[in-house]
Amino acid sequence: MQVLSVTPEIFPLIKTGGLADVTGALPIALAAKGVTMRTLIPGFPTVMAAFKKKKAVMQYPLLQGGKAAVHSIQLAGLELFVLDAPHLFDRPGGPYGNATGVDWPDNWRRFAALSQVGGDIAGGAISGYQPDIVHAHDWQSAMTLAYMRYGKAVGIPSMMTVHNLAFQGQFGAGIFGELGLPAAAMALDGVEYYGGVGFLKAGLQAAWAITTVSPTYAQEIRSAEFGMGLDGLINMRSSDLYGIVNGIDTGIWNPETDKHLVSTYTAGTLKARAPNRAAVEERFSLDRDDSPIVCVVSRLTWQKGMDILALVVDGIVATGARLAILGSGDAGLEGALLAAAARHRGRIGVVVGYDEGLSHIMQGGCDAIVIPSRFEPCGLTQLYGLRYGCVPVVARTGGLADTVIDANEAAVSAGVATGFQFAPNNGGAFLHTMRRLVDAHASPAVWESLQRQGMKADVSWDKSADKYVELYRSLLSKRVA
Ligand code: ADP
Ligand code: GLC
Repeated sequence: MQVLSVTPEIFPLIKTGGLADVTGALPIALAAKGVTMRTLIPGFPTVMAAFKKKKAVMQYPLLQGGKAAVHSIQLAGLELFVLDAPHLFDRPGGPYGNATGVDWPDNWRRFAALSQVGGDIAGGAISGYQPDIVHAHDWQSAMTLAYMRYGKAVGIPSMMTVHNLAFQGQFGAGIFGELGLPAAAMALDGVEYYGGVGFLKAGLQAAWAITTVSPTYAQEIRSAEFGMGLDGLINMRSSDLYGIVNGIDTGIWNPETDKHLVSTYTAGTLKARAPNRAAVEERFSLDRDDSPIVCVVSRLTWQKGMDILALVVDGIVATGARLAILGSGDAGLEGALLAAAARHRGRIGVVVGYDEGLSHIMQGGCDAIVIPSRFEPCGLTQLYGLRYGCVPVVARTGGLADTVIDANEAAVSAGVATGFQFAPNNGGAFLHTMRRLVDAHASPAVWESLQRQGMKADVSWDKSADKYVELYRSLLSKRVA
């Protein structure tokens, strides 16, 4: 089976969050199941720099305002189609905005172009390559499914995976004329959304199947509270909606072999985490003592509940725990957390920025990782935490609720607990749980059981890849012969 995946991010070439981890790991997990996944990505500077030999398999004299080509390359175990369109993607800064984080004004054009190319490939534009299924991720590639539906690839089964409903790619009606879609597409059951053009909405409408990245989030997005305005459409399509929890790449995230760690270890050698812990104390200028180090590795945003964290930091310090925070995002939140670190020298350390290597050392050295998200489609850092014996403390929502077993009395005595959950997501419940954590940490038997149990949890892609394969097969069976 040949699946074409279309995505704006893929690890290790371009990553701003978990989407890249997922699109980078899924092809490898699927290969083990006999499914070949090729991935179409934009030719961002880091992507273009990663390969030397170019082999164009498709050329566009004019694609959204400039010349473009598609190259077929193999890199880091991945089979890629790279859309080389310098007028759209050869820019400094991040994939979606400039160095100060301001979105590019022509993002609609950039990701319409990516999607158009996805639709063309689905329709057989590359000689010798015909995908059986097309799998799009988030709003940036969602229009692929609209280009398929209104073009040659209307008969090819498609899947739309929602990694985050908060980002929808909503633009004014004025862009419609430049999308190259037939006039009929500007309709309620097409790409039209509240008078403008909705990229994610268009994908949700056109997809043969809709998936999101955990069963709980799949339920939550049917409600007005989590549906972000799309709950009506999602409910209409609920018979085609599935929640498949993400796995992690256990080759990259393996405490036994992880090259980023100062000291590698297994569930049987937890004491060997100590040098990593010392490295965290040093990097975050924390006091050296036996109190738990709780870490945060996150985008600093409202979604991630970082404002709730900022509100309770003084209370956390009062529990005796130390905090090591790595993140970037909202400038106000960065400022609030840096101010907390200045108030509590030795107890709170903050590194503002994005540092993949440091994130591994934190998972390998900190005692716990806290994720107080308001909503969380899946979340990967709690899965890394489980695998690394860095006990997750999570808000009971989305994928967090699905992947962590709370250390309540029954679960602890049965020896099945893997972390802590709290609800409702507010400062009081958060602090109460931090106190539970500090108490549990004071008992080595309880704590080590949490760590070992977490390290035993199956966070690999194996079962979830099976679910994707099953769903791909069921879509193929719906194809009209
Ligand atoms: P989201 O995609 O919503 O940001 P996830 O938990 O799915 O959340 O994935 C986040 C990914 O980004 C994880 O791989 C995490 O380790 C990584 N990450 C987030 N912030 C940082 C940071 N400041 N430095 C390094 N890695 C980070
Ligand atoms: C999004 C979500 C996150 C999820 C990731 C990968 O960024 O916010 O919860 O883990 O996508 O699916």
